[in-house]
Amino acid sequence: MSRSGEELFSANQQIVCSVIPSLSHTSHKGQSGRIGVVGGSVEYTGAPYFAAITALKVGADLSYVFCSRESAPIIKSYSPELIVYPYLDSMNAIEEITSLLPKLHSVVIGPGLGRNDRILATVGQIIDKVKELDLPMVLDADALYFVSKCPEIVRGYTKAILTPNAAEFDRLYAAVYRSEPDKSEDPNAALLQLSQTLGNITIVRKGYEDIISDGHSVVNCNETGSPRRCGGQGDLLSGSMGTFAHWSQNAFATKTPSADLSLQTYGPNIVAALGACMLTRRCARLAFQKYARSTTTSDMIAEIKNAFSSLYPVD
Ligand SMILES: *[C@@H]1O[C@H](CO)[C@@H](O)[C@H](O)[C@H]1NC(C)=O
Ligand SMILES: *[C@@H]1O[C@H](CO)[C@@H](O)[C@H](O)[C@H]1NC(C)=O
Repeated sequence: MSRSGEELFSANQQIVCSVIPSLSHTSHKGQSGRIGVVGGSVEYTGAPYFAAITALKVGADLSYVFCSRESAPIIKSYSPELIVYPYLDSMNAIEEITSLLPKLHSVVIGPGLGRNDRILATVGQIIDKVKELDLPMVLDADALYFVSKCPEIVRGYTKAILTPNAAEFDRLYAAVYRSEPDKSEDPNAALLQLSQTLGNITIVRKGYEDIISDGHSVVNCNETGSPRRCGGQGDLLSGSMGTFAHWSQNAFATKTPSADLSLQTYGPNIVAALGACMLTRRCARLAFQKYARSTTTSDMIAEIKNAFSSLYPVD
């Protein structure tokens, strides 16, 4: 029996709902997630803000930004709700940052990072520490530039999720296979292949449809988005994925899959990526209905509440 897109979509919503922690008056601060965002440079202060505030508004309890010294006061001034550490370009960045990583549940690396060599070297060491701590890790933007220079750093780390756009995917593909970018007619097959070559890490290829693979399955997210392509939407995606990645890994680690059939359909990263892709697209659609051509990422963030409760009606 074939399933219609609509039915499949509903099944995906159900799967995402099964990993969202329920809210309880007796839970403690931090239980819904402490998410770190590594990024923020003198040029880019909006991106880490968008990612970190999104992680919080999706439902994490605390959101931390690890950014350069100069960008910190700017990012702090956008929001009193973020905890901002100005250590990314300090002399002892590694010590300062790695001592804080153990309190996090997941880490998003890349929003507004820039391409400064010294900072990218620090990011390499942060990635190594995140792997050692076995934390979920979402890599976007200039962190993907870094990964395309040394793909070995993520190979086989199955708690990593990469979120390349079309150009970033092409660069990564060309770097891994030392070839031209993929030109085949079957983007799903190319994605599955790349994910497997990198040891079954998860890759979310953003585009008209977002395509997600963890090396085992390939899933398309075809929730309707919007035709607006304003900057910052990718930060909403990576920030929300940081929160979903924690929830999903936690649900898989603490529930027996046989107790919850929906957890058997896909692995934890696919569930997290689907959760974030559907949410980001729904935010885009709802904001576009109100603001049309004027829609900006801040308008989308203002729709997180409505998008979340319509897609994922959990308590
Ligand atoms: C990746 O997943 C594929 C498909 O499930 C499997 O055949 C392969 O052995 C896996 N690779 C690694 C390195 O685990
Ligand atoms: C939605 O994605 C599924 C795969 O996950 C695909 O089979 C289906 O054709 C897609 N629907 C549309 C309308 O593109």
